[in-house]
Amino acid sequence: MGHYAAWDIEVARALITRLSSLDGAVMPILHALQDEFGYVDRAAVPLIADALNLSRAEVQGTISFYHDFRDEPAGRRVIKLCRAEACQAVGCENLVDHLRTRHGLAVDATTADGDLTIETVYCLGNCALGPAALVDGELVGRLDAQRLSALCEGRAVETAQIIERVPA
Ligand code: FES
Repeated sequence: MGHYAAWDIEVARALITRLSSLDGAVMPILHALQDEFGYVDRAAVPLIADALNLSRAEVQGTISFYHDFRDEPAGRRVIKLCRAEACQAVGCENLVDHLRTRHGLAVDATTADGDLTIETVYCLGNCALGPAALVDGELVGRLDAQRLSALCEGRAVETAQIIERVPA
């Protein structure tokens, strides 16, 4: 499923144990779970609560408060669209409009068929080549409506065409 691992409670448990001694471990743990699985499974809540001596409600409250945490699996494909300042200056919001008007796709949502998740990120470190996006883990620069449509429709876009890296 995309570039995320399938939910595995033993992997989650090991990860929680490894990070539980950090100060303010809740956020690092939630981020690590989301990085690994693409979302924070409900079954992780009691594990985190026990490891950190918190109530389940406190852990659940943290997940709900920060809307970067998903509590349902991501789509099979994930497009992370940068909407930070430098990408805004080169029209990333037009791409958000394009997704809505042309494809009926909402940002920060997963399609009903579970195929595609589009989410907002703030700076991918690719500002010189904005609008930038991370498509299934691959950095894409100078994204435009046409190529975004191709990506949304799962059409093959030549790698060389879509990946541009900032020269060192
Ligand atoms: S602002 Fe978009 S990559 Fe930095």
